[in-house]
Amino acid sequence: MEVVLDKTVNFAVLGVGVPNQNLGGHSVYNGIGEVHAHFISQTPGARLTACCDLNRDNGEAYARKFSCDFEHDYERLLARPDVDVVVVCTPSGLHGEHTERAARAGKHVIVEKPLEITLAKADSMLTAVRESGVKGVIVFPTRYYSAVNAVRDAINAGHFGTPALINALCLRYRDDVYYSGWRGTWALDGGGACMNQGIHMIDALLYLLDDLATVQARWDTIGHPKDLVEVEDVALALLTFRRGTLGTIQCTTCAWPDHGERIELHAMDGSVSLATHRVLDWQMANDAHLPDLSTLVERDEEFTGHRLLYLEAVPYFRGEGPCRCEIASGRRSLALIEAIYESARQGGAVIEPVLG
Ligand SMILES: NC(=O)c1ccc[n+]([C@@H]2O[C@H](COP(=O)([O-])OP(=O)(O)OC[C@H]3O[C@@H](n4cnc5c(N)ncnc54)[C@H](O)[C@@H]3O)[C@@H](O)[C@H]2O)c1
Repeated sequence: MEVVLDKTVNFAVLGVGVPNQNLGGHSVYNGIGEVHAHFISQTPGARLTACCDLNRDNGEAYARKFSCDFEHDYERLLARPDVDVVVVCTPSGLHGEHTERAARAGKHVIVEKPLEITLAKADSMLTAVRESGVKGVIVFPTRYYSAVNAVRDAINAGHFGTPALINALCLRYRDDVYYSGWRGTWALDGGGACMNQGIHMIDALLYLLDDLATVQARWDTIGHPKDLVEVEDVALALLTFRRGTLGTIQCTTCAWPDHGERIELHAMDGSVSLATHRVLDWQMANDAHLPDLSTLVERDEEFTGHRLLYLEAVPYFRGEGPCRCEIASGRRSLALIEAIYESARQGGAVIEPVLG
């Protein structure tokens, strides 16, 4: 039976975050759970009622800061009638277990990226969501940016012709301290520069071109000590698409002092380059096909895509509209990253990932 809401949507955050972390680029980072609390409080029809974390001190401090209740025990959180949606912000390799338990308890879910760290675990959690009749959302803020959607519309309208080349770049910097906890472990991060950081651009690439055919990849751990960081800190992938396009993915956490993210698309009828949501350059052979670039801007705030996601997710949970981040759509970036890792392990073998 489908679970439908007709009132204020009550949220609970699972995994409040570790205060004062070093996350390159961000001035103060207290974990993504805090970003969710902030944007829940800004979204009409949404209310944060509770939070839950293994760390009692951090959980109680978060509850005071955001005026909600703290539950130390996840089962107690799931038993609360004033929780409609659980926002899963725990380390990536726990997303499946925490989502399945929420879904089986009849709660809707918002799950931070990546969906999970293996396709097997992801498919199990998607089954639980489907069988429980709850709704799920995967957090890929890039899909909400107006520039990304304008590029997608132009591709689908044929304004570029056949894209010849698409490049997704994630050129981040993370120091050794960043990797001192669950991050950089196969067990809980599930990978490195691709699975944790690069996944945003990898998802954006598949959001723009949905007909990926093959991938070949190489990786290494070059900038960080291998005894500290189990996973890759540099990865390269060559892609082919059924429509004929060739592409590349480049991900690293060694790009001091942090060179951000980019998507580039080149074709005979035009080229565009985006830095996450900013248009760096966009030119079309036919001027009539160039959108008004002054409209393709977002608010100047950190994690602004999370705000846009909540504006769509709240009506979605109420059954009032679709969601472009419906949970099953989180599978495709994971499938591509799993194929990148498999190809790299086989020394650059050609793999045909099953994205659907
Ligand atoms: N979309 C984005 O831009 C974005 C940005 C950062 C992080 N993330 C994702 O969010 C997730 C969390 O990342 P983070 O940076 O906030 O990590 P974090 O380490 O700051 O926070 C994780 C929290 O989960 C808690 N926790 C761990 N195991 C738990 C359990 N079994 N039960 C309850 N609480 C538990 C920890 O105590 C901690 O408070 C990761 O999957 C990460 O990939 C997404």
